[in-house]
Amino acid sequence: MKGDIIRITDREGIIKVIKISVCIGSACHLKGSYNVINSLQQQIEKNGLLDKVSINGTFCTGNCGSKGVAVLVDNKYYGVEPSKVEEFFDNVIMKSV
Ligand code: FES
Repeated sequence: MKGDIIRITDREGIIKVIKISVCIGSACHLKGSYNVINSLQQQIEKNGLLDKVSINGTFCTGNCGSKGVAVLVDNKYYGVEPSKVEEFFDNVIMKSV
């Protein structure tokens, strides 16, 4: 299911994998979904979270009216502007890992 937190157990214990779904529908594309995805990917790499956070694109989620690009994390929608990805990442993703 899109946006779910998936828990994977390995020898070290439980690793939390967060799935971020970024809308790439028409309205969100115009609001900068491509830049949001690229910036999120940079934040993931910068914070060494390649094994804990994944990103995928999704089609219109019905949240076109939100300010910014519709992003789903842990069953919650956020409107993320391309210029505020780092702030979003710090406030939402870093607090979830
Ligand atoms: S196009 Fe993104 S929510 Fe509709």
